[in-house]
Amino acid sequence: GSSIAAGTADRDFVVVANRLPVDRVVRPDGEVEWRRSPGGLVTALEPIMQSRDGAWIGWSGDVDHAPEPFESDGMLLHAVPLSSKEVARYYEGFSNATLWPLYHDAVAPPEFHRSWWDTYVTVNRRFAEAAAAVAGQNAVVWIQDYQLQLVPAMLRAQRPDLRIGFFLHIPFPPTELFMQLPWRTRIVEGLLGADLIGFQLPGGAANFLRLARQLCGLQPHGRTVEVTDADGEPRVVRAEAFPISIDTKGMSDLSASPEVVQRAKELYSELGEPKHVLLGVDRLDYTKGISTRLQAYRELLEDSSITVPDTVLIQVATPSRERVEHYKALRNRIELQVGRINGDFGTLGHPAVQYLHQSYGRDELCALYRVADVMLVTPLRDGMNLVAKEYVAARTDHGGALVLSEFTGAAAELRQAYQVNPHDITHLKETIVAALNQDPAEGARRMRAMRRHVTSHDVNHWAASFLDSLRKTNA
Ligand code: ADP
Ligand code: F6P
Repeated sequence: GSSIAAGTADRDFVVVANRLPVDRVVRPDGEVEWRRSPGGLVTALEPIMQSRDGAWIGWSGDVDHAPEPFESDGMLLHAVPLSSKEVARYYEGFSNATLWPLYHDAVAPPEFHRSWWDTYVTVNRRFAEAAAAVAGQNAVVWIQDYQLQLVPAMLRAQRPDLRIGFFLHIPFPPTELFMQLPWRTRIVEGLLGADLIGFQLPGGAANFLRLARQLCGLQPHGRTVEVTDADGEPRVVRAEAFPISIDTKGMSDLSASPEVVQRAKELYSELGEPKHVLLGVDRLDYTKGISTRLQAYRELLEDSSITVPDTVLIQVATPSRERVEHYKALRNRIELQVGRINGDFGTLGHPAVQYLHQSYGRDELCALYRVADVMLVTPLRDGMNLVAKEYVAARTDHGGALVLSEFTGAAAELRQAYQVNPHDITHLKETIVAALNQDPAEGARRMRAMRRHVTSHDVNHWAASFLDSLRKTNA
């Protein structure tokens, strides 16, 4: 762990995130392997970092192990070690069993434990120290997501010369929910250490500014508040929305490549050339609405609105946070549902649901997107949902239909999707049927409009808007 302080304070651009873009995995035979980390944060930030020569500070995903800083893909990776107790209390506990459910509309009950909070503080301090050691004079430091909300203020206390940005990838909750948090004021004060706090949607920024008034007595002016730092100097903090996106061109080019086009053909024939392919791609998370989706699909089979083997649903569910109780329960529920649907409606060689509890490479996912007539993105709450944008980017043929929950950040931008309230199963079923039976010309019109949006609003646009605004705040 002493590697962090190894006198490398020379980087002008530093990203701080809970995870590094790669995960250290020790295989059963003892071999060490680095794999791409799961989730939307890495998908979005990786292409940004590859074009800058910055540093990325994060956890390697492994317990008690932090390799020496190393260069990878044009960036310096700086690992922050976590002990097994810290993984349990800071990551699985406070981050993923307190903040995650609370910020996602409490779709699962959040748990509050003082020992988890104490460890959250300890680990946030370690990340702040690592950032202070790596960042050069007047550098830009960009802190990411709910696991690190105390880092902005901790880092500013050590390094007032830095320009500090923070981006929250998940929803920022309504004030009524946030007020449940026993450490609510500490979190707001932690975030106020940044010059710029970015949210996915304007509503998140508005919720935050309201809390800054309620909890810290600050008076918002438009999208800013003025705070007084330890040195007695006033400083402006701006809270604004920057909807995150994907490397649209990268995804489109990959999708149009001969290899992926060929792979999509193979997949379709391996599936037995069904009339309709439906697809879900998610981390196995209770916010994603996978269970509701399966219920709607089951009822459509019961009504004979769809039949096997004409129709198949492919559900790819990346393993996620597997030691957290709610995730274990969710996996059991979903696998029971899938088993029952297949038992009741499958035929020999033709399951009704192809369920894959696995991670896939970009090429294979892209081929799946090309094969799917209907993409089901039905979260109960989601900060953005990049899968929806990836599907649109992959449909270079203007085919396919996107069924999209109105409770995703993406719904504010992808207006031409088939939007649904996933809690309304009857409407969800009707919407799936409408998407399956869409007039191809109408489908192409919708897809073209959505493609235009994700092309002009790609991840470079997101990063440039955030970093421009950060440069201008307190300039
Ligand atoms: P979240 O950040 O909550 O996981 P997003 O939809 O924003 O949700 O981002 C998920 C990212 O992870 C996308 O880039 C998606 O392609 C990728 N992903 C999801 N499931 C899989 C899978 N089974 N295999 C590989 N990548 C996946
Ligand atoms: O923004 C969503 C997010 O929680 C990221 O912060 C995170 O890296 C990703 O999803 C995957 O989750 P985890 O890191 O807990 O596996």
